Amino acid sequence: MLLSGRIPAHVAIIMDGNGRWAEMRGLPRIEGHKRGAERTREVITAATEVGVNTLTLYAFSLENWKRPDEEVSMLMKLLEFYLKKEFSELIKRGIVFRTIGEIWRLPENIQALLKDAEEKSLRNKGMNLVLALSYGGRNEIIRAVKKAMNLGVKPGDVTEAYFDSLLDTSGLSAPDLIIRTSGEKRISNFLLWQAAYAELHFTDTLWPDFTREEFFLALHDYQMRERRFGTVNARAER
Ligand code: FPP
Repeated sequence: MLLSGRIPAHVAIIMDGNGRWAEMRGLPRIEGHKRGAERTREVITAATEVGVNTLTLYAFSLENWKRPDEEVSMLMKLLEFYLKKEFSELIKRGIVFRTIGEIWRLPENIQALLKDAEEKSLRNKGMNLVLALSYGGRNEIIRAVKKAMNLGVKPGDVTEAYFDSLLDTSGLSAPDLIIRTSGEKRISNFLLWQAAYAELHFTDTLWPDFTREEFFLALHDYQMRERRFGTVNARAER
């Protein structure tokens, strides 16, 4: 099913629909998040298997802080559980781990676990796994502008490449494919600058039902697209 040779280097995913999945079954929302976390694990493995270079996952947005305290605290507990349980295994498998977003707003124990995972994976050579946590695209852009102003950068020195280097995603390639589950067709403040030329794949499947097979279907959809980057050449690649 997968065509060889055109695996997107960077796949980014808006993992949406956990709450609806649980509500449809009369379960508490956290049950949807738990099932969603299992799918996250499955998709990370699938991405490493097919040779994706960077996988970015929108795990917690800045807007998500406005959810009821109970749900936020359950999500943090779930993240803590996975960081403790799964990440040493992922790091052993060669994954390079990093985060984007306002990490300083997360509970201190989570910050420590994230820092530890980043440091331990620094010399790895495998897939980049990027967790967007307490993340918002506009906020990231504003922080980058402030960095430039604090550095006293002259307007003439602000190039796209320089601006890229001020973003949380500095050093990573832009996403080639952005997937959003659950039927919503929005970017929702995710990687706003970086998404300029990304192919978008929307599916009605709720994240807790998004299996590795569905992930491969999304890659297949990407493989069928023509990417022109504003030029006229069919299948032009950057
Ligand atoms: C969106 O569903 C999902 C989130 C806000 C959190 C994403 C978290 C996970 C997939 C699990 C935890 C992740 C890790 C890395 C351990 P929603 O609650 O917005 O669903 P709804 O739109 O149906 O309400």
